[in-house]
Amino acid sequence: MRSKIVAGNWKMNKNLEETETLLTELSGKLPDSEAEVMVAPTFVNLSAAVRNLENSSIQVIAQNMHFAESGAYTGEISADMLLNIGVDTCIIGHSERRAYFGETDEILAKKIKTALKNGIRVMFCFGEELEDRKSGNHFKVVESQLKNALFSLDKDAWSKIILAYEPVWAIGTGETASPEQAQEMHAFIRKTIAEAFDASVADNVSILYGGSVKPGNAAEIFSKPDVDGGLIGGASLVANDFIDIIKAI
Ligand code: PGA
Repeated sequence: MRSKIVAGNWKMNKNLEETETLLTELSGKLPDSEAEVMVAPTFVNLSAAVRNLENSSIQVIAQNMHFAESGAYTGEISADMLLNIGVDTCIIGHSERRAYFGETDEILAKKIKTALKNGIRVMFCFGEELEDRKSGNHFKVVESQLKNALFSLDKDAWSKIILAYEPVWAIGTGETASPEQAQEMHAFIRKTIAEAFDASVADNVSILYGGSVKPGNAAEIFSKPDVDGGLIGGASLVANDFIDIIKAI
């Protein structure tokens, strides 16, 4: 059975004090939910977040990691460093990493391999750009992103994979894929995985939607059968909004 997941990607927002305040508010208001709830603060505040949430079911996850185990990679963070502070899930392939930091499918495949080798659960992000959708190439683009990053994995590795479909045109733009567009793509993703692996792999992988999910649209998007939750940017920075999105699932 795949899990329902609501994850907040805080990106480069919230200093230490603001992180503590938001986490305390979130854990105080957290509703009873069958969904896994995750937050991804910036690297410098991960340890503090883990400590703050010691008695909470909210999981702390990372926004990124490097593909090397260790070494001369100034400014980078390794899998071991994350595990060592109690973080065992990592977002990989966010479109902002692809667009602003030159992360290619090849680099992402290496990161995924290193994460899995170290026992880190991967939340893999992918999604088409506006031109791809306008030209009708969105399915092809998504299929190739999945193939390049994930299709060389062993079947067993899929228990450690979460997918987050995030159409680039919907991220931080206020524009959301309609629930029907999200469902159509999520069903396509599941079918593509079933063909490349098998139906049980496809049925058991959680596929989150990301891109301007807000309290006002979350319930309708989450009601779609192949949408297993959301990766939330902007709205995860406001405690009441994030809590309302968790309630929506
Ligand atoms: P957004 O960001 O909710 O602000 O659109 C989503 C994401 O980048 O994960």
